[in-house]
Amino acid sequence: MQKIAIYPGSFDPLTNGHLDILKRALNIFDKVIVAVTVGGSKKTLFSGQERLDMIRTATAGWKRIVPENFSGLLVDYARKKKAIALIRGLRAVSDFEYELQMGLMNRRLSSRPPHKNPLETVYLMPDEKFTYLSSTLVKEIARLKGNVRDFVPKIVEEKLNAKFHAVI
Ligand code: PNS
Repeated sequence: MQKIAIYPGSFDPLTNGHLDILKRALNIFDKVIVAVTVGGSKKTLFSGQERLDMIRTATAGWKRIVPENFSGLLVDYARKKKAIALIRGLRAVSDFEYELQMGLMNRRLSSRPPHKNPLETVYLMPDEKFTYLSSTLVKEIARLKGNVRDFVPKIVEEKLNAKFHAVI
């Protein structure tokens, strides 16, 4: 049976740190669905469609990954997709508390019918060079006309520049 995992997030925008986690997840699972939030409470710079399109472009030619938008409860989406695990990246201790809370809540929510098995979360560490990287910092640097080339795929760099510094 295919082992399917879901890598959920806002990906506002995708960074090289996300891609690093995705590659690691592909070493463990047969298929990884990159699940991009839409319609959540979090205000995002890019629309759901824009975030999805950037991921599609940045991972074009990668096999075994499926980028999709999702809304609603993650555990319900995971059940529909027949996923056996969630993937989350852990950069530093500061990520841990929020991740533990979400991981335990998702496991709890998926521990009763109609769910069949509790949904576990697999935490992966990115390469050390990405431990200080975040979408929030990347947006700030781009907004202030800094160079984000080392931190994001080309398509994201272009879209950030267009968003913040478009000449109309
Ligand atoms: O990249 P982010 O913003 O840290 O990702 C957070 C995300 C999308 C994983 C989380 O907000 C989420 O799971 N949202 C879907 C709604 C849901 O199921 N909420 C309950 C989580 S315990």
